[in-house]
Amino acid sequence: MRSTHVVAAALAAAMVLTPSMASAAPSGDSHGKTETLRKAAPRGFHIGTAVAGGGHHETQPYPDPFTHDRPYRQVLAAEFSSVSAENQMKWEYIHPERDRYNFGMADAIVKFAQRNRQVVRGHTLLWHSQNPAWLQQGTFTPEELRKILRDHIKTVVGRYKGKIQQWDVANEIFTDTGALRTTDNIWIRELGPGIIADAFRWAHEADPRAKLFFNDYGVESVNAKSDAYLALIKELRAKRVPVHGFSAQAHLSISYGFPGDLENNLRRFAALGLETAITELDVRMDLPPDGIPTAAQLEQQADYYQRTLVACLKVRGCDSFTIWGFVDKYSWVPVFFKGQGAATVMWDDFTRKPAYYRLLSTLDRS
Ligand code: G3I
Repeated sequence: MRSTHVVAAALAAAMVLTPSMASAAPSGDSHGKTETLRKAAPRGFHIGTAVAGGGHHETQPYPDPFTHDRPYRQVLAAEFSSVSAENQMKWEYIHPERDRYNFGMADAIVKFAQRNRQVVRGHTLLWHSQNPAWLQQGTFTPEELRKILRDHIKTVVGRYKGKIQQWDVANEIFTDTGALRTTDNIWIRELGPGIIADAFRWAHEADPRAKLFFNDYGVESVNAKSDAYLALIKELRAKRVPVHGFSAQAHLSISYGFPGDLENNLRRFAALGLETAITELDVRMDLPPDGIPTAAQLEQQADYYQRTLVACLKVRGCDSFTIWGFVDKYSWVPVFFKGQGAATVMWDDFTRKPAYYRLLSTLDRS
């Protein structure tokens, strides 16, 4: 049996043309004017991706992608004008021990971005997940814990002052019902909701130019969760807390409907004077028994990618559109969702999928 990705590549070739022939992409897609996403994007509109490393990659049978995969780095530089650290700036990587920071990987990503004229999204400062054991299991007084967070934010944000375009200051602070995570978020549980405003203030003091965002999944539509963000942000901005943006991660699946009110939802935040962004788009699917997506699945996936991009392009102040990885072999999806995958815009060998060409032609026309 031919290996999955060989068959996938053959399917891709049947479906679309190889990258070197992008100029003759399927009709209705790219007009062949440009051959990369970043070149096709309108001036000032950043098309980004997560930079693969850490996290789920550590349990996979390959070395760290960003440091070892040359073809990966070449595509990363050529196609994208914004990069996000997938895991490398999270507490468990950048602050592994109470008195020790590890900036190696984050520094490498920031240097790569500077060399390739890319902006950087910092991810993330206040979250309930991927905190190191010394923090999550430590016993601290509220004063000690508050100082730990303040020192972390001042140290990390300060180190990259002027080099980070947007920070996900607070990540996933509400449950799906719009309740604050007062149990699993150590900061909110131990220090109360007021710590959220302090985190934004400290980040702003450390880097006044960085745009400071709330970031979450499941907030693409108008719902209890996005309503909760809208109310909280209104309250914080009334108190002149430096909140500059709201971003939807947009981890989508073709097993569910597309969030058709995404544009209107983003407009609600834009109406507050906020920037908005799409920060972690991928579109997963249940894979057939042979592991090869059908043409219909690939078409629906391309449609979801395109509609998400169109929504962002149409909302003033949505100038940052990031996909959560661009090649299937490094995607978090199959690790997290058994039987699902093919969530990104390229096959394992970097052959472009219909979704890639749909993004390209949409950017070309914008
Ligand atoms: O820490 C455990 C370790 O103790 C254990 O031995 C090991 C094997 O099971 O797993 C380790 O946890 C890993 C974790 O990253 C820690 O780095 C998980 O397996 C691994 O799946 C996890 O993956 C990352 C995930 O965040 C963690 O939530 C992914 O690489 C990363 O793509 C993903 O990214 C998040 C964004 O930051 C926020 N939005 C959602 C998005 C997808 O979950």
